[in-house]
Amino acid sequence: MKGIVLAGGRATRLRPLTQITSKQLLPVYNKPMIFYPIETLTKAGITDILIIIAPDYSGQFLNLLGTGEQFGAKFTYEIQEEPRGLADAFIMGEQFIGNDNVTMILGDNIFDYDFTNEISQFDKGGLIFAKKVPDPARYAVVEFDNANNVLSIVEKPENPKSDYAVPGIYLFDNKVSEFAKKVTPSKRGELEIPDVYNQYLERGELKVKTIDCEWEDAGTFNSLLRANNYWAKKIR
Ligand code: G1P
Repeated sequence: MKGIVLAGGRATRLRPLTQITSKQLLPVYNKPMIFYPIETLTKAGITDILIIIAPDYSGQFLNLLGTGEQFGAKFTYEIQEEPRGLADAFIMGEQFIGNDNVTMILGDNIFDYDFTNEISQFDKGGLIFAKKVPDPARYAVVEFDNANNVLSIVEKPENPKSDYAVPGIYLFDNKVSEFAKKVTPSKRGELEIPDVYNQYLERGELKVKTIDCEWEDAGTFNSLLRANNYWAKKIR
């Protein structure tokens, strides 16, 4: 299993903070945000990790993270010139993924959850997660039946069909790069990730697992503050 941390984008919602550094380098209690998703991967046994970054503060990422040795891992870097969307990571990462499976995590997604079992047991197809949230319209929303069969997944729906968001961690086999290449840009001009996992769904190869844990997409002032408070309480 290989790992990808996607830490691109301009994070305009966090200006002026993101005019001094990248969103994923902002502090979450006692360390830079990106440490959390990296450690989510390494804790689950993933040590070969591609980090995708925007050009703007790329030197700061290299200075901070280096080879990956301090995490017991090996880091490779790619620069994403434009924020082309989450699915683009699988196109950029095609050679890196090679014949392996891949877990992608978003650089602003902070979980208090150990994915070791899911990652070590993963064989093929796609696995996404579902987490109950009070504000589903902010996310991809998954609707499923009692037997956990997925009925629909829609990116940022106006009228969410459930309270379950799809958090930013995804496990795929290596068909993912081919599937990502078939995606066309959405209204916001991005290659959206649901267009990738819906292709697994069409083939009957997508599984969904509900998780109940602390999770933040720390991309807004309020969620960034909540993440800081949560980890301050937990670690102190
Ligand atoms: C992205 C994804 C969305 C997912 C969310 C999780 O949204 O597009 O499907 O639910 O991350 O954090 P964005 O952060 O780009 O708004």
